[in-house]
Amino acid sequence: MNRQFKAFLVAYFVGRAAALVYTFPDCTVAPLKGNAVCDLTKDPITRAQAIISEFTVDELMANTVNLSPGVPRLGLPSYQWWSEALHGVANSPGVTFASPGSNFSFATSFPQPILMSAAFDDPLIKEVATIISTEARAFNNFGRAGIDFFTPNINPFKDPRWGRGQETPGEDPFHISQYVFNLIQGLQGGLDPEPYFKVIGDCKHFAAYDLEDWDGNNRMSFNAIVTTQDLSEFYLPPFQSCVRDAKVASVMCSYNSVNGIPSCANSYLLQSILRDYWGFDNKGRWVTSDCDAVDNIFSTHHYTATYPEAVADALLAGTDIDCGTAYSLHLPDAFNQSLITRPDLEQALVRQYSSLVRLGFFDPPSIQPYRQLDWSNVNTPNAQALAYQAAVEGITLLKNDGTLPLKKSIKSIAFVGPWANATTSMQGNYEGIAPFLVSPVQGAINAGFQATFTEGTNMTGTSTDGFAAALAAASIADAIVYAGGIDETVESEGNDRMAISWPGVQLELVAQLSALKKPLVVVQFGGGQVDGTALKNNTQVNAVLWAGYPGQSGGTALADILTGKAAPAGRLTTTQYPADYVNEVPMTDMTLRPSTTNPGRTYVWFTGTPVFEFGHGLHYTKFALSWASSLPSKYEIPKVSFAQNKLVDLEVFDTFNVGVRNTGKVTSDYVALLFLSGNGGPAPLPNKRLVSYTRLHQIPAGRQSTAALKVTLGSVARADTNGDLWVFPGTYQVTVDTGAEVSLTHQFELVGEAVQISSFPQDSS
Ligand SMILES: *[C@@H]1O[C@H](CO)[C@@H](O)[C@H](O)[C@H]1NC(C)=O
Ligand SMILES: *[C@@H]1O[C@H](CO)[C@@H](O)[C@H](O)[C@H]1NC(C)=O
Ligand SMILES: *[C@@H]1O[C@H](CO)[C@@H](O)[C@H](O)[C@H]1NC(C)=O
Ligand SMILES: *[C@@H]1O[C@H](CO)[C@@H](O)[C@H](O)[C@H]1NC(C)=O
Ligand SMILES: *[C@@H]1O[C@H](CO)[C@@H](O)[C@H](O)[C@H]1NC(C)=O
Repeated sequence: MNRQFKAFLVAYFVGRAAALVYTFPDCTVAPLKGNAVCDLTKDPITRAQAIISEFTVDELMANTVNLSPGVPRLGLPSYQWWSEALHGVANSPGVTFASPGSNFSFATSFPQPILMSAAFDDPLIKEVATIISTEARAFNNFGRAGIDFFTPNINPFKDPRWGRGQETPGEDPFHISQYVFNLIQGLQGGLDPEPYFKVIGDCKHFAAYDLEDWDGNNRMSFNAIVTTQDLSEFYLPPFQSCVRDAKVASVMCSYNSVNGIPSCANSYLLQSILRDYWGFDNKGRWVTSDCDAVDNIFSTHHYTATYPEAVADALLAGTDIDCGTAYSLHLPDAFNQSLITRPDLEQALVRQYSSLVRLGFFDPPSIQPYRQLDWSNVNTPNAQALAYQAAVEGITLLKNDGTLPLKKSIKSIAFVGPWANATTSMQGNYEGIAPFLVSPVQGAINAGFQATFTEGTNMTGTSTDGFAAALAAASIADAIVYAGGIDETVESEGNDRMAISWPGVQLELVAQLSALKKPLVVVQFGGGQVDGTALKNNTQVNAVLWAGYPGQSGGTALADILTGKAAPAGRLTTTQYPADYVNEVPMTDMTLRPSTTNPGRTYVWFTGTPVFEFGHGLHYTKFALSWASSLPSKYEIPKVSFAQNKLVDLEVFDTFNVGVRNTGKVTSDYVALLFLSGNGGPAPLPNKRLVSYTRLHQIPAGRQSTAALKVTLGSVARADTNGDLWVFPGTYQVTVDTGAEVSLTHQFELVGEAVQISSFPQDSS
């Protein structure tokens, strides 16, 4: 969303707040009573067809948009398909928070995904999503939210300039795949649960969407040129995991074109890949457009000569809901011009209504597990503890000379910088109203420090007028915490960044603070990584933490990490590139592999030296790693065939057991990351690739835990230029960890014939 649009939304809400009340249809009275849509013994498709068959063509067309009017004469109420819940129930057209002090005036506000994912803790993600869906249902039961949510954003955060990378779980497709697999189960109430979905999630933005507005290139007209190999290997695995494996009920097509065809009119994406290859079926599953993306097919992509052609193309390609109004405005003309038929409209509506059936829309509340949830299920002590835990687990220690945890002798801390007293900023975007927001300085005050706040400079300003006050406050404190960085949601909302250096005069202020030679901790906020070379180099900057957008308990989590009450174990989910990276490749270049015009993208292909690499993260203790079981030096390539079993990629190749001994002095979590590199096949990996991870909790000093790192065949395989996955013979190496503190390797041979394990759909258009 851009700023203007957000302002529009706020106005829209305030205006509509009273009007929008969710009611469910009443099957106990006429006109619905006796209709087969109310028949619990029938399957969802049959039930949906029963009611859809009674719609007139005009009624079908009117109900193809997100603000669906329903059909009052048939007993069907209106429904708003657009609710949001990226990291908690969030402000959106479908969500209405109550006035302060009332029930439903807030919802638990978890950290943004970029920070939660840095925990590398999949069970945590599932628990968070379970709380979100519980709160969402409670809101819905009282008419304050929909029961489907346009979340999560799972486009890989490929380019550090992207203005929306903070909404994603980072740059690595494997990591995002695991994250979304767990998240969707938490949202939907299990893997394709019967008889009811808890709520419906929506994986977005399909596909190859990671540019807002950069150097004159706008997402509404951008044509992403993507090779089939890169689609298969990088842009789509998170969607495959979400759709095929986690069985999400909805997908959002994106604003951009892919290889010349707008995503929402792209039958290669929406039919060949999504429905035919991944099995996204009609039973409660639908595709929505991003908001106004159908309109944009005509108005900004100029893909068709007329609006009726644009809406017909989108509907026929498989976009079932237009978040916008292009369908309701222009489908009537398309129908009159015979560009679409009644069955085309019915197909979209059956997909929608079968999902409402699977949400219990037509069933008596008494038989539904989620209809009892109410305000007492929102912001429970458990939810609050989890929001705190997610922040603690995600916060990542980038540098430390032993200053952290702070010595007991430190009683007073000067908090300096634009994030030092941040409140709502800690929620990032796609946020709701939090029950409370503990700022960094308030967290320290609550922890017993004498803590002061002096801004010193704002994020982007060039004035040094505030330096003197900040230096004065710092000079009388025992220690200094500089809290700054970037804020994509203010600085570049709806836009991308042109630079990835620290903005404004922040680094100058840090340099001056460091000259005071007091313990100095820099806490970098914001989702994207900015070049911290100067912080890394400056020995008077004693420690650097990255805290992303940590949510409602951000300040508490940070204070506990500063004091050592909690030990940091987060890992970077994106590469921190040197500032010059932005001059080496344009954002519009979708290629991943290094070339004369591209230094390579993400830790897998980047050929330069990162400031901090993907997976980097330090601890307050030391760990020693060992293989906990003997490992073969040779594996036969298994004789498998994708024709017999379409999910060969999920078969286990091997499980690598790693002993993790805490050889230091404090109890700590440890994230075990297993990378694979290899020289087999025609397309060797230039760098390593993440193939497995797990987070071990609370390993006491002197004790050992075991990380069981399961690696699938899909992770060992590589995509050829057709996007087909192959397991190639050759020499491979697995490595545990990034090598910053410790690392462990094992080399093995894969012998036998190369085997193909999947066959990727080809674009025949
Ligand atoms: C469609 O055609 C019918 C019959 O020609 C006409 O009455 C109607 O107004 C047309 N609708 C639209 C939206 O053009
Ligand atoms: C607020 O929610 C609580 C818990 O569900 C309920 O007991 C109370 O009656 C509600 N208050 C109002 C004014 O609805
Ligand atoms: C932080 O800001 C709030 C207002 O948002 C203010 O009430 C509070 O005093 C500030 N905290 C400090 C330590 O300055
Ligand atoms: C930062 O401060 C400058 C003045 O130095 C001002 O022009 C600018 O608007 C401020 N930016 C923000 C985001 O507050
Ligand atoms: C940081 O240190 C490196 C290596 O010593 C040096 O090449 C580089 O110029 C320094 N950069 C900054 C910003 O201080």
